Formats: sequence, C-alpha cells, structure tokens
Amino acid sequence: MNVTELTPFLELNNGVNMPQVGLGVFKMDDEQAEEATRYAIDVAGYRAIDTAAVYGNEAGVGRAIAASKVDREDLFITTKLWNDNQGYDETLQAFEESMKKLDLSYLDLYLIHWPKPQLDKALDTWRAFERLYDEGLIRAIGVSNFKPHHLDALLAQANIIPAVNQIELHPMMSQIETREYCEQREIKIEAWSPLMQAGELLDHPVIQGIANVHSKEPAQVVLRWHVQSGFLVIPKSKTPERIKDNIEIFTFELSPEEMLQIDSLNSNRRIGPDPDKL
Ligand SMILES: NC(=O)c1ccc[n+]([C@@H]2O[C@H](COP(=O)([O-])OP(=O)(O)OC[C@H]3O[C@@H](n4cnc5c(N)ncnc54)[C@H](OP(=O)(O)O)[C@@H]3O)[C@@H](O)[C@H]2O)c1
Repeated sequence: MNVTELTPFLELNNGVNMPQVGLGVFKMDDEQAEEATRYAIDVAGYRAIDTAAVYGNEAGVGRAIAASKVDREDLFITTKLWNDNQGYDETLQAFEESMKKLDLSYLDLYLIHWPKPQLDKALDTWRAFERLYDEGLIRAIGVSNFKPHHLDALLAQANIIPAVNQIELHPMMSQIETREYCEQREIKIEAWSPLMQAGELLDHPVIQGIANVHSKEPAQVVLRWHVQSGFLVIPKSKTPERIKDNIEIFTFELSPEEMLQIDSLNSNRRIGPDPDKL
C-alpha cells in the first residue's frame, strides 16, 4: 500500500496544501534527526517535517532532504523562530541562518515559536514574517503556542492572518477554546506532543481498549483521533517501526462513539509550559 497516496492534505487559508501528518524531530540531535527524516521520507512515505531553530537539528534535516529521491516540491518543511530572535531585523537574520542550515531556497511554513508577550516584539516579528512571505521565500506563515488573547493582539495589526497555530494538543488537553477561536478565523490547528509524549496516555484503558478492537497500536488510535478531529499532527519518533506506524492510520476509522470516549479523557492537563508563564 502506498502510504503517501493515502495521506490527506489540509488546505491552509492561503490555498497552500499541507500534509496532515508530519514527523516532529524535537529532542533529536543532528544525526538522529537526519536518520529519522531520511527514514520517514524515503521509507515510510512522510512528506512533512517539523523542526525548529532551537532543536539544533536543522542541518541534519537538511542533509536528509538533500539526499532524498523525493522532489523538494513534494516536501513540506516547517521550522520555527526562537524567542531570542524575535524582532524585525533579528527575524530576518534568524530566517537566513535557518535556511542555510536547512540548505533550502524556500521554506513551506515558518512559525513564531512562542508568543512571549513580555518581549513586546511579536508584531515586529510578524512584519518580518509578512515580508519574507511577500518575497516568496515562505509559502505559509503562522504561530505556535498562541492563546486567543495573543492572537487578538496580533490580528489587530496583521496584514496576513496566520495560516497555522501549533499548540500542545492531545486527548487530555483538548484546547477547546483555542480551537474554536482559530476555526472561526480559518487558522488551522496543529497538534504538538500529540501522543502526550507516550506513557500515561498510551497506557490508558480507554485507548488500549479501542486499540484492541481495531488491532492497532495505542499511538495509532490517538493519531487517528487527531486526524478525524481535523488537526494537523506531527508525532515524534526516532524509532523506525514507530515512524512507520504513526503514519499508517488511514486504513481504519474510529466510530463516533469511540471519538466521544476519547474526547471525554480531557482534563486540561498540560505537559509543556503554559504560554502565559514561559
Ligand atoms: N511548538 C512547540 O512549542 C512544540 C513543543 C513540543 C513539541 N513540538 C513538536 O511536536 C512534535 C511532537 O511532540 P513531542 O516530541 O513532544 O511528543 P509526542 O510526539 O507526543 O511523543 C513523542 C514520544 O512518543 C514516543 N512514541 C512515538 N511514537 C510512538 C508509538 N507509535 N508508540 C509508542 N511510543 C511512541 C517517542 O519515542 P521514540 O522517539 O523513542 O520512538 C517519544 O518518546 C515535536 O517533535 C516537535 O516537532 C512543538
């Protein structure tokens, strides 16, 4: 079965299509990110990779892209601007450095990693994002970890509405308020730590029970919940078998009752920082 043909795209608010499932490469060193990206693209059929300047592995991702037989135009690469580099000139410079490390001539999606309102630089940063977008160096621009009140401030001044908001999102932290806010403004939600970094969520009896019914792995059930909920999703794994499992989620479907059972696990439990406190 050709996984790529089965992996849907979601259309962003500027008409760009983004693969719904991508590989996250957080907590991988350069070599691990190169190896995981290579396996994901060339063997498992991924077409989207999510990295960030602060992960320190853009060069590894870039090497895997350069070595891949898959055409650049068929890949969707995301990186993120780190907090220390917010500001207009700082952003332009940080973008150039990321592109050098990734060894790319254009980027598919660039995200402001955290809102950091105390810096008061998000608007200047966004102006630089808009310039890079207008110059054709980035196909879509977005944000990460923005709550509705952070987006309110940005949207009041922005010329371009963010295409994506990448937030912590999994069945135990289902982010209803931010999801509704973004849906109303055609900002696509992308789930980070979609598996809640494994452990507790994958061991939960509800997830295990549904996995048994479908003869699937618990992680596949959770990722299927994300996909059926309409989210972009970027599970991280450096383990080949799991990288493969995590995209092979398009040959089964959760029933409405199973979706509700998983929805009911929400307890607004973060595993990462609260964007207002970072
Ligand atoms: N914007 C942000 O602020 C932000 C913050 C955090 C993360 N992210 C992005 O989101 C991506 C995913 O989040 P995450 O890395 O925090 O967590 P995650 O994807 O929820 O979980 C990753 C963990 O789950 C394990 N795992 C993966 N697939 C599995 C499977 N099929 N069965 C069992 N265990 C499995 C991985 O182990 P192995 O690797 O050992 O296989 C790893 O320990 C990151 O890589 C990054 O790209 C963004």
